[in-house]
Amino acid sequence: MSDVLTDTTGTAGAIRYRGRTGVPPQFRPPRAPGHFVGRGDELARIRTGGVTVLSGPGGVGKTALALKWLQDRGSGDQLYVDLAAREPVAELLRSFGLIEVPAGDRAAVFRSLAVRRQFTLLLDNADSAEQVTPLLPASGTVVVTTRKKLNLDQALEIAVEPLADDPLLGALLDLSYVELPERQARLYRLCAWQPGAFDVPVAAAIAGECVCDVEDALDDLVEKSLLTEVGDAFRFHELVRAHARTKR
Ligand SMILES: Nc1ncnc2c1ncn2[C@@H]1O[C@H](COP(=O)(O)OP(=O)(O)O)[C@@H](O)[C@H]1O
Ligand SMILES: [Mg+2]
Repeated sequence: MSDVLTDTTGTAGAIRYRGRTGVPPQFRPPRAPGHFVGRGDELARIRTGGVTVLSGPGGVGKTALALKWLQDRGSGDQLYVDLAAREPVAELLRSFGLIEVPAGDRAAVFRSLAVRRQFTLLLDNADSAEQVTPLLPASGTVVVTTRKKLNLDQALEIAVEPLADDPLLGALLDLSYVELPERQARLYRLCAWQPGAFDVPVAAAIAGECVCDVEDALDDLVEKSLLTEVGDAFRFHELVRAHARTKR
């Protein structure tokens, strides 16, 4: 197997990752929401060392919880892998300079990389135990998020429930809201009446403004964690939507 561990400088038999010490930007965990609230019990339960699976419906707050935990922990290198992306493991290995690992060896090379670099892993959006199990390193800390029930061996499973209507969240959202420029505040109020996800042209139509102004303003709302970007569309967390609808 060692002959597949060839880096771009041509050194066979060793993983050298082009001498990088850092993590390629696309595999660094994004920031946790700035107004993160609650989840004290879940944050305390996530394991340092071993595997924790955060399961629950889409939008409930699994990724935010995992990111907050990683951010609070803040030590050591952390890898964020979106398992819903196209060929995530191949892409990750490539970004570390491991460009021609045969498909059948990728999981083993990934595990080896994780152990050698002592990465804390966030495997986001897992679809099945079969997808995750081959990626689990022999040691280290792994957090998995999933909408399914995975029943992984040796893993702690935490069911992530919807946040209770936390008065603190309301107060924190108010703080973010009062700082919004008028265009952003208006979009925040108006788009919250749109059920489900919406894209830039829809938001522009709702606000009666041009697409380019609206695009920047929506990006700003995402930046402030008031809105979530999903592909080309945007959506509100249910609690944020409820907050926005109280505003006039
Ligand atoms: N505890 C929290 N405090 C503040 N915002 C949160 C919290 N949990 C989730 N959110 C926000 O709700 C939205 C959906 O959460 P996310 O973690 O992406 O859900 P999931 O991963 O379960 O689909 C995001 O905009 C996120 O920032
Ligand atoms: Mg998620």
